[in-house]
Amino acid sequence: MNPSHATPNALSASTVIAVIGSGAMGAGIAQVAAAAGHTVKLFDNRAGAAETAIANIRGQFTRLAEKGKLSKDAAQSAAQRLVAVIREDELSDAGLVIEAIVENLQAKQTLYANLEDVVGPDCIFGTNTSSISVTAIGSALKHPERLVGMHFFNPAPLMALVEIVSGLATERRIADILFATALAWGKTPVHARSTPGFIVNRVARPYYSEALRQVHEGIANCATLDALMREAGGFRMGPFELIDMIGLDINFAVTQSVWNAFFNDPRFTPSLIQQEYVAAGWLGRKSGRGFYDYAAGAARPEPATEAPLTIPADIVVLGTSAPAEALAARLASREVPFRRDNRAADGVIATTGGAVLSLCDGRSATRRASNTGIASTVVVDLALDYSQAARVAIAAAMQCAPRALEAAIGLLQAAGYKVSRLKDAPGLPVMRTLAMLANEAADAVNQGVADEAGVNTAMCLGVGYPRGPLEWARGVGLPHIHRVLDNLAESYGEDRYRISPYLQQLLFTTVSVRTP
Ligand code: NAI
Repeated sequence: MNPSHATPNALSASTVIAVIGSGAMGAGIAQVAAAAGHTVKLFDNRAGAAETAIANIRGQFTRLAEKGKLSKDAAQSAAQRLVAVIREDELSDAGLVIEAIVENLQAKQTLYANLEDVVGPDCIFGTNTSSISVTAIGSALKHPERLVGMHFFNPAPLMALVEIVSGLATERRIADILFATALAWGKTPVHARSTPGFIVNRVARPYYSEALRQVHEGIANCATLDALMREAGGFRMGPFELIDMIGLDINFAVTQSVWNAFFNDPRFTPSLIQQEYVAAGWLGRKSGRGFYDYAAGAARPEPATEAPLTIPADIVVLGTSAPAEALAARLASREVPFRRDNRAADGVIATTGGAVLSLCDGRSATRRASNTGIASTVVVDLALDYSQAARVAIAAAMQCAPRALEAAIGLLQAAGYKVSRLKDAPGLPVMRTLAMLANEAADAVNQGVADEAGVNTAMCLGVGYPRGPLEWARGVGLPHIHRVLDNLAESYGEDRYRISPYLQQLLFTTVSVRTP
C-alpha cells in the first residue's frame, strides 16, 4: 500500500452485507454483522435454510437481551435487520458479500463469478474459506482484486479472531477495508497472505503432530500428554481432547490438506496413528469414541502420576533460572529444607540423592548423561509458569540409579508438583511442542504470511494458546529453543525439525545466551 494513503475506513453501518450459506459459519457471521448495525441478507440454496437460520439468530438475540448483554431495543432492531432472500439477484445492493458455503473451489468460483454480474463495481467479496487458496478462487473472477479471505472462527459470534487473507491479486486497500470492518464489528483481525492453512491452521499443526508422534513412539499415553499440556503447558485442552472435539476425520483432513499443499513437506507429515483411528471410525465425541471412550459410564483414563515418595534430605537448588527460582519458592512455602547455590551451568536446576535435575534441552536424559558423564541424570520439562504448574514431566537416563530417581521425584513432589515420568526420548512434551510451534510460527513470518505480532495474536485468539508461540519462545530464551530443535533434528535425523531461517536470524540478534 502507498504509505501516503490513509488507512481505509470500515464499511459504514448503512452498507448492506450479504451472507451466502446459512450453516454454522454463515449464521454466526450474519449474527455478528446484524449486531454491528448492518442490514444482512442471508441466502442459502437449500430451501428454507436461511429462514430457519434467521429464526435461530433472532432467538440468540432474545437470549442475549435476557442475559442483559444487549438492550431489548438493540436486540429487536438487530433481529429486524436480518432478511432471508431466495434469489441471488436480490443481492444487487450488497456492499460486501461473505460466502460460507460448502468448502469446494468450484462452488465458490461459480458463486462469485455469477455474483459479479449482480452486484455493483465497488462490492467487496469476502470468502470464509478455511483451506482453499484465495488466489485460486479469485482466478475465476473478472475482478479478483476485490476478493479477500475473511476467515472467522467457530462460533463466529464468540471467537474474536478474523484472518484477513490476501490472495496474489487482492488489492491491499480492500483487505484494509475488511480489516477495519472486522475491527468495527468487535473482532480482532490479523492480516495474512494466502498460503496453505493461512496462519492458525498451519502454525497449530505441531500441537497435534508432536503429541501423536509421542504416542506412536510409546513415550506417553493420551491421558498423560493431555494432562501435561494443560497442567504444565497452560493450554486449555490437551491435543487429544481437542482432536476428539474437532473430529479425528476433520483434523486429519486439515493435516493432509496442509501437507499436500506444501508438496509433502515432512514438517506436516500426517500421523499413522490418526489414520488408523479414522479407518476404525473412531472419530471422537461425535462417534462416541475417539482417543477417549464417550460411552455412558466409560471411565476416563488417569494420567500417569508417580506415587508419593518421601522428601529427600539433601536438596540443593542450583542457579537462578525460572524453574530453579520457582522450585526454591515452592519448597520454601512448604517449609521443605534445601540449600541454594546460585552457580549453575548447562540448565541444571537442582541436585538431590545423587540425581542431577536439568531443564530439557531436546536431548534424551540418557544422551545427556552420556555427554556429561553424570549417570543419574533426570530431565525436567518446560512449564508455562513453574510457580503455578500443577504437574511436570520428567524422564530419567537409562543409567540413572533407582535411588537417585526416587529422590528426584520426591523433590518435585515436595515442591507440590504431580510428577509424570515418561519413557526417555528426545525432548519432553511441553518443550518440544513449544519449540515446534515457535519454529512453525517463525517460518510463517519468514515467508511473509503474517508478522510476528499477528501470528502471536492469531494463535492466542484462534486456538486459545496461553501465549503466542514466538513471544513464549522469547521468554524461554531463543538460544534454548534453538538448542531443543537442533537436538531433536540430530536425534531424529529428519527434515521435520529443521530450523526456520527466521528463528536462526533471531538467535543471532540475542546478545547474551540465556537459559530459563
Ligand atoms: P455448513 O455445511 O454448516 O453450511 C454450509 C451452508 O451452505 C449449507 O446451509 C448449504 O446449504 C449452503 N450452501 C452450500 N452450497 C451453496 C451454494 N452454492 N449457494 C448457497 N448456499 C450453499 O458449513 P460451515 O461449517 O458453516 O462452513 C462453511 C464454510 O466456512 C466452509 O468454507 C468452511 O470451510 C468454512 N469454515 C468453517 C469453519 C467451521 O468450524 N465449521 C470455521 C471456519 C471456516
